[in-house]
Amino acid sequence: MFNGNYPKLQLLNEIFIEKYPFMGSTINNGFTAFGKTWAVEVEELLAAMFATNQQLTKAVDGYVRFAMDVTRRQSRFDDACEYPQKSFNQVADEVYLNDEYMERYYLPGLLLSHMLWPHHYRQSRFFTATFLRDMEVMGAKEFVDAGVGTGFLSRLTLAACPDITGVGFDVSPASKKFAELQVANYKLLDRYQCKLLNLCTQPTKVETDWLISAEVLEHLEDPLSFLQRLRVILRPGGKGFITAALNAAEIDHIYLYRNPIEVQDQLIEAGFTIEQYQSIPAYKPRKINIPTPEVVAFIVT
Ligand SMILES: C[S@@+](CC[C@H](N)C(=O)[O-])C[C@H]1O[C@@H](n2cnc3c(N)ncnc32)[C@H](O)[C@@H]1O
Repeated sequence: MFNGNYPKLQLLNEIFIEKYPFMGSTINNGFTAFGKTWAVEVEELLAAMFATNQQLTKAVDGYVRFAMDVTRRQSRFDDACEYPQKSFNQVADEVYLNDEYMERYYLPGLLLSHMLWPHHYRQSRFFTATFLRDMEVMGAKEFVDAGVGTGFLSRLTLAACPDITGVGFDVSPASKKFAELQVANYKLLDRYQCKLLNLCTQPTKVETDWLISAEVLEHLEDPLSFLQRLRVILRPGGKGFITAALNAAEIDHIYLYRNPIEVQDQLIEAGFTIEQYQSIPAYKPRKINIPTPEVVAFIVT
């Protein structure tokens, strides 16, 4: 049982137990796996983003629907081993440009998943321990976040590097708004700008020494040409943190990566050099020959 003075986390635990008993062990599991550091981070995030009990309850409702949708789609994927065919425009209409869906389900779901899904949390620890540490040590002055989503990594970066400024890009007005809100709630908005842009079709006119693009590749029809665009944004000698989800059937995943090598090959073809990578499965393999969802993060130059 988790302990300590974590009023928001306590409330989150109670909401799960009372409203969604099938997820009633989520908080204890997180505390057992990741301890006090995790509890402090979750407490801070909940306090910053969901000030009232009503806001937190609404976010949990969104998260649960988001997570159940992922589970349903993954179970279909277990049979088909393919994502349903969808164009980017279809996904944009259904998800990114659908403010109601984004605000109620997708963005709270994604935000809480960064802390509550062990593979997502492990990936953010990898980001902090490697890429973000390099930024701090080397006194990074600016960064670009391509596909900000909730703004989670932008916010971690701004908080860790007190002199840094950042620019985020996203095609979704709701993501832009949510990322700005998260950054503002941590009192970091004076060093951050988020711009509405389709990174596959519109020019960014930016360059950076520090590039972040997390969980975007699998959302695209042609991730290789997106990576070629990112390669132009990253100055020679700069460093990038680029991730992808593999075998993860979510509502907006179009491009199926089956293993980390497929991502690595595209990164190399786009002109990046791999410095290191980490791949983390979502859970233990359930059956032989059924691929497990994974997240893979590459540090590239
Ligand atoms: C899973 S989220 C990214 C998660 C985010 N990096 C994080 O760590 O929270 C995917 C995001 O990519 C954005 N996106 C997808 N395709 C895009 C494109 N062509 N141009 C810009 N943003 C895009 C979506 O709107 C969505 O906000």
